[in-house]
Amino acid sequence: MSTATETWSNGVSKLYDEMAELIEVQGSSIHVGYWLDENDRTPLLEAINRCTDVVVGKLELRPGQRLLDIGCGVAMPAIRLAQRTDADITGVTNSQWQVNAGTQLVGFAGLRGQVRVELGDAAALSYPDDSFDAVLMFQSLQHAQDRKQWLREMVRVVKPGGRAVLTDFTAEAPLSSQEIEILHGGSMIPPQPVPSILEEVRSCGLTIDEAVSCGDRIRPSYPAYFERLTRMRPALEAAIGKDKVDGQEQAMRHLLPIYHDKIGYVIITGHKPE
Ligand SMILES: C[S@@+](CC[C@H](N)C(=O)[O-])C[C@H]1O[C@@H](n2cnc3c(N)ncnc32)[C@H](O)[C@@H]1O
Repeated sequence: MSTATETWSNGVSKLYDEMAELIEVQGSSIHVGYWLDENDRTPLLEAINRCTDVVVGKLELRPGQRLLDIGCGVAMPAIRLAQRTDADITGVTNSQWQVNAGTQLVGFAGLRGQVRVELGDAAALSYPDDSFDAVLMFQSLQHAQDRKQWLREMVRVVKPGGRAVLTDFTAEAPLSSQEIEILHGGSMIPPQPVPSILEEVRSCGLTIDEAVSCGDRIRPSYPAYFERLTRMRPALEAAIGKDKVDGQEQAMRHLLPIYHDKIGYVIITGHKPE
């Protein structure tokens, strides 16, 4: 791997190590919520759980099947999925903080031995070819400097016929150079339009079965984030210090309006050809 790629990847892992407990604002699942329509007033944390269910439900896992969750955070989606399906799940993240926190959560959830959280790099997975029944990449691809490398690795480790589900942010309006810089500051690559994403995924060897664009369903996540952060602020400050909370709020005040106004979301389901 090139030095530039390593430096980018180190930046992403540092970002998540430093974010640490701040993921509690999202109930520790590090992804968007999902609302049914514009009248839906579901609270953020339940909408986040619903998003997990919508996305991981597409895996259609059966008891005992093996899933690799690439960019697993602290394994909140993996825990929910394991409890519901009795599947065997390995999560991989490049944040050591998340490995430690996720492993603890897995234990508390009663899933020791069934779910594991491992340190690794999505661009160079340490698992053999064709070794999982299914693979998941849930809101992590936006951090890939070499997206095709991540996608090829995802396809490599799943068995022929095995299912892959991934979510990605999508370009809905042009970004200014200042907005691109802000995304880079948050270790995110600017998103592409849906057709280019689908073409890229196909070129890496996945047959696409379904692609659902759902920007409008997830967009309430962004104002809801600030509402929760404000509500949790005193408790968070007491736990981790005011400076850390201020830093996170400032970063999000720059980043989330861009996501709200110009960026959508797609859920892609596919399989590796036999
Ligand atoms: C937005 S979070 C999503 C976490 C999780 N999928 C969830 O929904 O809660 C992105 C995740 O991708 C992980 N990640 C980013 N770059 C990575 C890399 N090169 N290798 C492995 N994981 C990576 C981050 O550490 C983080 O866990």
